[in-house]
Amino acid sequence: MNEQQARTRIQELTAALNDHNYRYYVLAQPSVSDYEYDMLLEELIKLESQFPELVDQNSPSQRVGGQVTKKFPVVRHKYPMLSLGNTYSKEELQDFDQRIRKAIGEQFEYVCELKFDGVAIGITYANGKILRAVTRGDGMQGDEVTPNIKTIRSLPLSLKKEGLPAEFEVRGEVFLPHKSFLKLNQEKISNEEEPFANPRNAAAGSLKTQDSALVAKRGLDSFLYGLFTDTPLFDTHYESLRALKDWGFKVSEFSKKCKTLNEVFLYIETMEQLRPELPFDIDGVVIKVNDYRQQEQLGYTAKSPRWAISYKFKAERVATRLLDVIYQVGRTGAVTPVAVLKPVPVAGTIVKRASLYNADRMAELDLHLLDEVYVEKGGDIIPKIIGVNDSVRPANAQKVQFATHCPECDTPLAKSEGEAIHYCPNSEHCPPQIQGKIEHFISRRAMDIETLGQGRVEILISNGIISNLADLYDLKYEQLLGLEKTITDPITLKTKKFSFREKTVENILNALENSKKVGFERVLFALGIRLLGETMARKLAKHFGNIDALMKASFEELTSVPDVGEKMAFSIIDYFKQPGHQEIVQRLKNAGLKFETQKEAEPRQGPLNGANLVISGVFTHYSRNEIKALIEKNGGKITGSVTSKTTYLVAGENMGPEKRKKAEELGVKIISEDDLEALIKQ
Ligand code: IVH
Repeated sequence: MNEQQARTRIQELTAALNDHNYRYYVLAQPSVSDYEYDMLLEELIKLESQFPELVDQNSPSQRVGGQVTKKFPVVRHKYPMLSLGNTYSKEELQDFDQRIRKAIGEQFEYVCELKFDGVAIGITYANGKILRAVTRGDGMQGDEVTPNIKTIRSLPLSLKKEGLPAEFEVRGEVFLPHKSFLKLNQEKISNEEEPFANPRNAAAGSLKTQDSALVAKRGLDSFLYGLFTDTPLFDTHYESLRALKDWGFKVSEFSKKCKTLNEVFLYIETMEQLRPELPFDIDGVVIKVNDYRQQEQLGYTAKSPRWAISYKFKAERVATRLLDVIYQVGRTGAVTPVAVLKPVPVAGTIVKRASLYNADRMAELDLHLLDEVYVEKGGDIIPKIIGVNDSVRPANAQKVQFATHCPECDTPLAKSEGEAIHYCPNSEHCPPQIQGKIEHFISRRAMDIETLGQGRVEILISNGIISNLADLYDLKYEQLLGLEKTITDPITLKTKKFSFREKTVENILNALENSKKVGFERVLFALGIRLLGETMARKLAKHFGNIDALMKASFEELTSVPDVGEKMAFSIIDYFKQPGHQEIVQRLKNAGLKFETQKEAEPRQGPLNGANLVISGVFTHYSRNEIKALIEKNGGKITGSVTSKTTYLVAGENMGPEKRKKAEELGVKIISEDDLEALIKQ
């Protein structure tokens, strides 16, 4: 084949593939089989590889991706990409409607649309071809993700229509249909990767994937709902939607013109009923004033138009069957009932488990095995059972009774008078409770051995390598290296893989070694004595000076310490009374942990003498406790809130905006941790 013949054939193939694409992905009326389509595409790709100079930027071969983007360029939007005000009730919609009538009178109509739950995109076409596609970003500028957008098969890469504006922008939503989402998550799980929480996150993640060939495999789709041109082409939004459809874009069937608020309400109800049957996620409807001139009249607030609003649906609920109730023991020993359900799709994911919270909640639902139950997914993470359809319950159905024994260690469960929570009293030997204690011990505010982390602690416990706090300091390099495990969350059934590689093991052993420098007050807090928080641990450490004095302290001595109440005193006595705890303290002492307070340089004199400081946010060089200690060591006093008496507000990253505002109002000096160091050095 010579170049001229190739050019002709490439043109034929391009036209045929574009047409098939449109029929298949936009109209859902395929005209050829998948096999025939694949054959045509294969022929095109082959020809293009033989004649690379003939490859068009918008050839249908771009659908399979291939371009790798290292960093997505940031592009300014020609027309700002606004967001929408949200409403959740009919009353709020009535207010919206009233505002509009007041501003523009009675002669107008609305267009109601689905609110697609995906990622907003703006796509510019120049001379009938995709020029660029940009995400919303902050509304003023976003990321250019053109190669990834070109993989969306329902989106025309070039337009056939004559007489279109030389340049225009279409806006719409990119989403992952449920089918593609489920397939993607199944693949993730079998590759031991973290699955996506919902289709929206999956779509957002896909758009930011560097390799467009991977994006092509995900099966993104889009609906368009906006047209932007320099000079207006149409008078109304509805006409623009019709035009977009006519030009070959995928536009939702469900847009509807409504004259009255009652028609809007009817639309909302109809769409809410339709929602479970849609093959993609929606989270509400959008209501827009149709006429562009009236839109202009109504104008905009800083972030959103006054001529449009969204109405958000409540969480989606579906019916399924209750197969069993199992019990999960938390880190504190609390026992949570979990419903095992006949798998059912809810808002794009397959739900197999749901939390039942506690015995009271379970009794309220009056659950029987094989009941038909209603499941709801709030927010998207943990599903819950919100009701039972007892009208279809078989006469001999068996009532679900709350467990009597701990599913982890078989100890009889206990329940405090007047409380809803059952708990396992075997706090020393019940595996999840051991885990809870160790997690607290290693946490940043306690011993700060967080490289170990939750998942890895679970591996160590389940392998019998550790069963209490003191065992941590006997860990050896060889014991840890190579351990690994995939852990499944009992409710979401999400899996995560944890492993101990060389570097991790080194980091863990270093962190353990470093933790021996942690002061007594934090070690005391780390022990996890019930009711003993950080502040009281500090006070007690200071008051008693060392652990032996504290262990020997009587009830009276304890309650004589300011702020130590009876409950806390009992808790402390009870803790140290147990031989297991005495042994752990002894072993931790032997390991070299600090069990007495460092002598303070009294009276405290220093560069910060007389200064009142408030700290806020996260610091780079110090933990919060370290920065507090530094200030106190240098004579400064720490207080919780900014007042007129405050000398300095030490600002870390992500500090509370309220504190900053207060400081600015009162003229309190705001300093960084570097400034603080400089002050001290002075
Ligand atoms: S119109 C100024 N129409 O909702 C008008 N937005 O909260 C803004 N969305 O960023 C957009 N479906 O991602 C519009 N039919 C629809 C929509 C829709 C979903 C999203 C869009 C936007 C967000 C606004």
